Amino acid sequence: MKKILFVTSEVYPLIKTGGLADVSNSLPKALSQTGQDVKLVIPNYHGLKITAPVIERSLFKIGTHTVRLLETMLPDSDVGIWLVDCPEYFDISGNPYVDFAGNAYGNNAERFALFCRAAIEIAMNRAGLDWTADVVHCHDWQTGLVPALLSLEYKCPPTVFTIHNLAYQGLFNGLMAATLQLPSQLLSPDGLEFFSMISFIKGGIAYADKITTVSPTYAQDIQTAELGYGLEGLLVYRNQDLIGIINGIDDDWNPQIDPFIAKNYSVDTLADKKENKKALQTHFNLPVDENILLIGLISRLVEQKGIDMILGCLSEMLTFPIQFVLLGSGDKGFEKQLREFAQANPNKLSLTLGYDEALAHLIEAGADVFLMPSRFEPCGLNQMYSQRYGTLPIVRKTGGLADTVVDTLPSTISDKTATGFVFNEASEGALLETIKRVVMLYGFPEIWHQIQVNAMNVDFSWKSSAEQYIDVYSKI
Ligand code: ADP
Ligand code: GLC
Repeated sequence: MKKILFVTSEVYPLIKTGGLADVSNSLPKALSQTGQDVKLVIPNYHGLKITAPVIERSLFKIGTHTVRLLETMLPDSDVGIWLVDCPEYFDISGNPYVDFAGNAYGNNAERFALFCRAAIEIAMNRAGLDWTADVVHCHDWQTGLVPALLSLEYKCPPTVFTIHNLAYQGLFNGLMAATLQLPSQLLSPDGLEFFSMISFIKGGIAYADKITTVSPTYAQDIQTAELGYGLEGLLVYRNQDLIGIINGIDDDWNPQIDPFIAKNYSVDTLADKKENKKALQTHFNLPVDENILLIGLISRLVEQKGIDMILGCLSEMLTFPIQFVLLGSGDKGFEKQLREFAQANPNKLSLTLGYDEALAHLIEAGADVFLMPSRFEPCGLNQMYSQRYGTLPIVRKTGGLADTVVDTLPSTISDKTATGFVFNEASEGALLETIKRVVMLYGFPEIWHQIQVNAMNVDFSWKSSAEQYIDVYSKI
């Protein structure tokens, strides 16, 4: 049994902006089920949705700040959560990283540096908890200073740093080094310095004992200039310590027991899926029609997700016999263009701008296909949720999408391995051609049904991934 401190900036259902929150919920649970003692540490944002009791555990100082440490539990689990309470930094109710206009908070460096230092106090048993970490597992740039600063401690626990998305690096003006009182031995180009700036994510990549990322293909992708963002050299250098472990999914996404959908179903009662299609069409004010191909999309509306590609061919796509429902928020320009398309095509395209957990589940259950044409995708969760719901994913062949979806081809139809639709080129033409291919195949219900069965039977559970993490912990 290992004591694992899981340091993360979001966790479902307390706070979520994307897949990191889902993984921070389901991986600790899976680890705990194997007998590990897992504790999460997150900032105590004002907007946290907490249902379990909260108790105050301790008070300590980080520089001039007094930090209060609170304790609660992750719902439906025996995983404890420590909340780093520092109101001057975390008393915000919206998105943890950006303001309402989508701009990063001006003090993000100070906010997450304090969070990292608090995590170190916990890991080193200096936070009054009588608990010392055997392993510290950090996630994304917000926690990148933990491996860096911890490396300077006497008898520090080993660290694992997981890259969920290399595109977000926590890059700050070099002068921040003084403000954050970062020790000079960390500031070299081998350390936190990145072209005269301070890079939080480099703290994780350069100093962690092991680096993981969330799919084997993305582990390769980030070692190339195209997706390495200037860090590919360092990642190639650390190649022996870099491993890709695909994310799993848990029972929050299971059509048999999902409380958010109109009618529960399984692979044996797949006909009931159409009740969800009806509910979805009704919800979005679209003509209720069982036979038209209904495409769903749930996403942060950012370039990573290929939204620009969709916009570039949306006029033509809407001439096909399809309906399209979208749920998302993000880039204001994308939001505006999508709103205009929806207003002009009320019978075909329906849009909900914002964040809506329940609606996300209904889309997964009610759509026939799920569109995810990402330009890059470290892992991606919705393509796995979709398969479990018999909603065939349409994805671009990149990162975790390439690792989790099997394209529908004559050979994969006949050997019953097809689970969705995959295209290679990041172009509007390739996307349109794929949608055409999907529309055509939708006219063959028997083949379609078989692909749904194949998809629903794939095992995306956390079991084998959690075992791979335990293997990584045991090697350090
Ligand atoms: P990423 O983390 O890059 O955004 P993932 O596919 O890993 O991509 O995870 C996205 C998660 O966020 C999924 O659980 C998805 O359902 C959810 N999600 C994204 N946008 C919304 C939204 N507008 N409303 C509800 N859920 C959303
Ligand atoms: C990131 C990635 C996404 C991944 C998620 C969870 O947000 O963009 O691909 O699924 O983290 O690991």
